[in-house]
Amino acid sequence: MTPGEKTRRTDLRDQRRRRQHGCWDQLIAAPLWVAYEANLGTLLRTCDAVGACMAVPGTDHYHRALDRGDTLPRRPHVHWVRRSKLSWIAEQRETSRIVAVELAEDATPLTRLAAARTRTVVLLGHEHAGVPAETWDLIDEVVEIPMVGRGSSLNVAVAGSLVLYMLAGLM
Ligand SMILES: C[S@@+](CC[C@H](N)C(=O)[O-])C[C@H]1O[C@@H](n2cnc3c(N)ncnc32)[C@H](O)[C@@H]1O
Repeated sequence: MTPGEKTRRTDLRDQRRRRQHGCWDQLIAAPLWVAYEANLGTLLRTCDAVGACMAVPGTDHYHRALDRGDTLPRRPHVHWVRRSKLSWIAEQRETSRIVAVELAEDATPLTRLAAARTRTVVLLGHEHAGVPAETWDLIDEVVEIPMVGRGSSLNVAVAGSLVLYMLAGLM
């Protein structure tokens, strides 16, 4: 392609994604407490972009939210959590590292977060209440995204997307 020659966006996408693939079940975004449909839709698109799967409660609310928010040609695999969230996390912990995205005193700053080397489940908190305290004993690492502004936190879909990109090794 010569300079000045315009590349169509679809051609660029094909050039850059020679190894296009779905999710591998090694990185699982778990917005188990995220309530707003727009945030769930945004996180689903990030999952597709980084090759992550998603885990959400198998309730009507989450089915509806993903149906409405899904603008993808093919949806990443979704684990429908049909029992207590705590027992699901405890079961995942037998085979995976549990990472919570949250503001916490002993958190790893995002800048020091390494790409995931083993199966990793990423917990994301409720828009108002955050990640519930009863999960803390099940969490292996907390990741916090540094902020210098006056707001107290980021939008959960933005926070989750940044962490998923880092864990996927794409940033
Ligand atoms: C809007 S925040 C919840 C704020 C809530 N008022 C609190 O104090 O816990 C929603 C979720 O986004 C994520 N989040 C937002 N900002 C973050 C940050 N700077 N670092 C890590 N996680 C963040 C966390 O998962 C959090 O539970």
